[in-house]
Amino acid sequence: MKDLFADRMSKIPRSFVREILKVTENPDIISFAGGLPNPISFPHKDIAEAAAVVLNDSSNEALQYSSTEGYKPLRNYIADRYCGAGLDVEPDQILMINGSQQGLDLIGKIFLNRGDVMLIERPTYLAAIQSFGFYEPNFVSIPLLNDGVDLQTLKNKLKTLNPKLFYSIPNFQNPTGITYSRKKREKIGEIFNQSGTIFVEDNPYGEIRFIGNDLPCVKTYLNNSILLGSFSKIVSPGIRLGWIVADDEIMKHLITAKQASDLHSNILTQMIVHRYLKGYDVETHLKLIRKMYRTQRDCMVAMIKKYFPQDVKYTKPEGGMFLWVTLPVGMSSMELFEAAIDENVAFVPGEAFYSENPEKNTLRLNFSNSDEKRIQEGIKRLGHAIKNLKKK
Ligand SMILES: Cc1ncc(COP(=O)(O)O)c(C=O)c1O
Repeated sequence: MKDLFADRMSKIPRSFVREILKVTENPDIISFAGGLPNPISFPHKDIAEAAAVVLNDSSNEALQYSSTEGYKPLRNYIADRYCGAGLDVEPDQILMINGSQQGLDLIGKIFLNRGDVMLIERPTYLAAIQSFGFYEPNFVSIPLLNDGVDLQTLKNKLKTLNPKLFYSIPNFQNPTGITYSRKKREKIGEIFNQSGTIFVEDNPYGEIRFIGNDLPCVKTYLNNSILLGSFSKIVSPGIRLGWIVADDEIMKHLITAKQASDLHSNILTQMIVHRYLKGYDVETHLKLIRKMYRTQRDCMVAMIKKYFPQDVKYTKPEGGMFLWVTLPVGMSSMELFEAAIDENVAFVPGEAFYSENPEKNTLRLNFSNSDEKRIQEGIKRLGHAIKNLKKK
């Protein structure tokens, strides 16, 4: 049986997070492992009303096959929202997809031949490594600094390797919580506009900034880019709805790939989400999410300060859902994971987020899915586990 599977299957790491999430199904475990929004934020009543209206008023359209590009009024809404934020996007430059995750697969499908060089951040979103990995590229990772990717290394790799793509998460990055500074975004524009490499900007967290002012999308500075967006963090991940923004030439190929893959994204869901966005107070909804995550993030940072040893470093993100912890050199977050599970608390060891040579003393903590009480107790337990492991 083993011989029947395609060679590429043996090269794809099984998602470590999925394995961890199995462990954390135990309700006694306080989990900072998953990347889940807080379900309190789901606008379930509004969505129920919107769904009833769509099914009552437009059931023929909502239950029928539809266009690959996606529901036009929803693409108009997304384009208008970008324009309101100062980014010139036409509805025809938008393709609706099944969460931004599908975008990663489609991008891999239309660009990557086996062995093509692809740049990624170090560390990066592990399901991106997995998704692009199916197309067997040669990943080259560029270190992240506190204000974004290391430009010197990036420039060097662009010049020497002439990669096809650079995959980046400029806002509240998963896993580190790092955000690219305005200056870095501008510089990236200068650098990429002189290269043939496409900048792939994955932005699922941009709308959940809870400290400071919004920064322009990197796309603002680029001639040649792909931008990914998602409703997962602002409405609900279960609806599996996201989009890709790309210019004509790339869009044509994306549409062909999507058509072959699933014909189109669920039109009923697209119509419900559109009805919800047009008919309800989405801005107030977003404000509530930001307020809640800010409180949870502040609580986690305060507890880390209180319970972790002083030589443990951590990021303090201005938005998003994660912070990144660096243990003293020589400590292993895998070992800490075992010790933490004994204390009924979980996180994701940093190893999962590297395509090669992982920094074994790193780990990711999610703050969006736990209330303050659980954060207080969980970080206290984790601090205890770190101190015990240090003594060994
Ligand atoms: C950086 C990044 N990209 C893409 C995704 C996938 O999101 P979606 O639910 O839109 O498929 C996630 C989900 O956590 C993410 O963190």
